Amino acid sequence: MNIDTLRTDGFVTVQYPPNLRTLVMTAMASWQAFCKLPPEEKSKLSQQTDRTVDFGYMRRTDQGKAADDKELFHLVGKNLPQIYRQAADIADPRATLFIKAIDALLRESAPLVREFAHEVERVYHLTGFEDEVMSSQDNWTFRLLHYFGGAKILAYRHPDRKGFTLHLNESAPGGEYLGFDHIWRPWTVSEKQTIIFPSMELQYRSAGMLKALWHQILSTPETIHTGRYAMVAFIDFRHSHRVEGRTQDFEPGFNYDIPFEEFRKVFVPRP
Ligand SMILES: [Fe+2]
Repeated sequence: MNIDTLRTDGFVTVQYPPNLRTLVMTAMASWQAFCKLPPEEKSKLSQQTDRTVDFGYMRRTDQGKAADDKELFHLVGKNLPQIYRQAADIADPRATLFIKAIDALLRESAPLVREFAHEVERVYHLTGFEDEVMSSQDNWTFRLLHYFGGAKILAYRHPDRKGFTLHLNESAPGGEYLGFDHIWRPWTVSEKQTIIFPSMELQYRSAGMLKALWHQILSTPETIHTGRYAMVAFIDFRHSHRVEGRTQDFEPGFNYDIPFEEFRKVFVPRP
């Protein structure tokens, strides 16, 4: 894997190995099938009793600047046994098929994640980084999104918080990234390729050598009516610090040119 474009564009484009491509497409199709289940069935995969538990099925209707009207699903490896038990309570087989598809994707994407972490460790001399990533596999989060449309901005501009992000698949265009020249450009995610980019904690871990990429999702004339499906993976690793506050509230690209001593001020130690 050649990660040279991290310096120039802020992300790398990776062609899918055939087996992974098949799993990505299967997972996307099963997410779309799951979304068609009645709301009361879908909510059986939510954690309704505890709003702080951020996994399973969620329906968001936030208002304001970072308005979000979407349904989403978080699958975290460590929660798989519980989600399988919950899915078994849903009579429609689409629920369990959906969990199985994401489970398979979680396992089979590991070599690609390792390859990226390996190259980052080698090129940027981040000793131990590959091991830190791979020993955190139970905390990687696969996020499946369904935006209902209607709004001009589907995801307000932000950098991601954790280690790095794989944009695995999108049902339509509309994703844009902020280049290091502070110009917004569309990105290309297709059935054949994914993009991988650093998030805030990797910028910290690399003492500012890698930059957390700002991105946003806009509606197109089509998706404003039809809505949009997407699938991403947030690759976590154990890190001493976390971002304080909402990344949407920072100035776009604030982290591209500032010294590390300034950048680290938006972090607080993990308890
Ligand atoms: Fe994001």
